[in-house]
Amino acid sequence: MRVHVADHPLITHKLTVLRDVNTPSPVFRALVEELMTLLAYEGTRNVRVTPVEIETPVAPTTGVRIAEPKPLVVPILRAGLGMLEGMVKLVPTAEVGFLGMARNEETLEPATYAERLPDDLSGRQCFVLDPMLATGGSLAAAMEYLFQRGADDVTAICILGTPEGLEAVEKAMHGREVTIVLGAVDERLNEHGFIVPGLGDAGDRLYGTV
Ligand code: PRP
Repeated sequence: MRVHVADHPLITHKLTVLRDVNTPSPVFRALVEELMTLLAYEGTRNVRVTPVEIETPVAPTTGVRIAEPKPLVVPILRAGLGMLEGMVKLVPTAEVGFLGMARNEETLEPATYAERLPDDLSGRQCFVLDPMLATGGSLAAAMEYLFQRGADDVTAICILGTPEGLEAVEKAMHGREVTIVLGAVDERLNEHGFIVPGLGDAGDRLYGTV
């Protein structure tokens, strides 16, 4: 498993404002989108491309374009939805599929309550978006689901993670090559399954408590 923690002062600055309990929802939403755009740069480092011949006003040359089948972006509802706009701004031709998952507050086990993805993901490169990687249960289940459907390359882009969560995802992948790009890896997970220091519940801070 390849883990890349974005180490950039602009990301850390935006993350600090995001973590602040006094940051209101509209600012929080804008920051999640901005952070996503910055993380997408690293997250799409291995996006598949094919060579293409073009003519500049001066000479013919070879460039690249995003390969077919197009990358599939999968935000995990709810909180991952806040990252979608930032990602499709950078990769506007990507297709988008949805997975709805909610953690049981007592057992911390994820349950899938919605799914809207192409039936066959054979050979597809997928990018999972979820701001929080806490126990790692939701991300591991989402990645496993995509592999079961035929995806052959999965990258997750998260804003915050924990050492425990990363370890759990790695174990659950059973040696499959996946990539996780994060804005930061925090200190730990607390007894309620929250990231410490973290930023609280990203879904609630983006959209309010359900
Ligand atoms: C949060 C978060 C992740 C998950 C992380 O979602 O957005 O999906 O928990 O926890 P884990 O790593 O321990 O599985 P939540 O279940 O609160 O749903 P929400 O996005 O609708 O708020």
